Amino acid sequence: MPKNMKKRPLLSILLQIPVYTMVVGLISTICDIFYELYFLFKYPKFKYLFVIEGSDIDTDVEACYIPTPYYKILKSLKTLKSLLKGFEDSIFIEIGSGSGRAMFAASSKGFRHIIGIELSKTLCDLSEQNLKIHLHKETNYKILHCNEKDISFPDLIDNADKEKIRSLVFYLGGTIISIQNLTKLKELNNKFDIYIVNVGPLQDRATYDVIEENGFSVVFEKFKENKDKPNIIQKFINYSGAFSTSYHLPQGYRIYKNK
Ligand SMILES: C[S@@+](CC[C@H](N)C(=O)[O-])C[C@H]1O[C@@H](n2cnc3c(N)ncnc32)[C@H](O)[C@@H]1O
Repeated sequence: MPKNMKKRPLLSILLQIPVYTMVVGLISTICDIFYELYFLFKYPKFKYLFVIEGSDIDTDVEACYIPTPYYKILKSLKTLKSLLKGFEDSIFIEIGSGSGRAMFAASSKGFRHIIGIELSKTLCDLSEQNLKIHLHKETNYKILHCNEKDISFPDLIDNADKEKIRSLVFYLGGTIISIQNLTKLKELNNKFDIYIVNVGPLQDRATYDVIEENGFSVVFEKFKENKDKPNIIQKFINYSGAFSTSYHLPQGYRIYKNK
């Protein structure tokens, strides 16, 4: 065996993923599972779905619906809190808000202004039910049943002056922010600190390049992408649900801020 060639365990070779990714991925997966169970037991009335095809809900989005792992939601909110130093004067805007879990977590960590944007009417109704029961009573929230592309963010947050809002957080759990909206965010650049939090696998690399081209830079990154081409086992793991992100991206989130 050549000297510069690293030894890899058999499992890693079979899965064709680097050792680091595999070890951290496994730990992260265990945390994902543990936190999912914790969530299920702690909030039994919070209804959410596991993996379902887009065609099973009322959207024409081809990709299947996967809930953002609760562990990743909590970790990313913790990092965000250290960057923002408090959430009371911020608006949390989730694009693709699904069953409302990230909105709920954001409220319980201190956000008082929350907006969810969701394409599926079924998921909007589900999140409405969930948030009615679980959201912190002092939280202002709305869930918009629409495509993110049809929204103008400067119009959406026009009451911000009244509420003394200083930062905006765009939370993407497996969704993207459209290029036209990214360009429009420039209109808000002078007024707010703007954060974009991307949790989960990269959906479309070009879009993430566009985020940077539009005046944002990465301020926090826990991405360890598996650059190898996924083999059949990995494809299965990737498809198999909420915990898949652990294999792609062991710690799985990236935060951008406007300059
Ligand atoms: C990967 S799921 C994440 C859901 C959510 N974060 C959760 O944990 O329940 C992505 C969600 O984004 C929604 N979605 C996809 N594209 C969208 C768009 N352009 N505008 C609004 N919602 C969108 C889908 O319907 C789906 O519910």
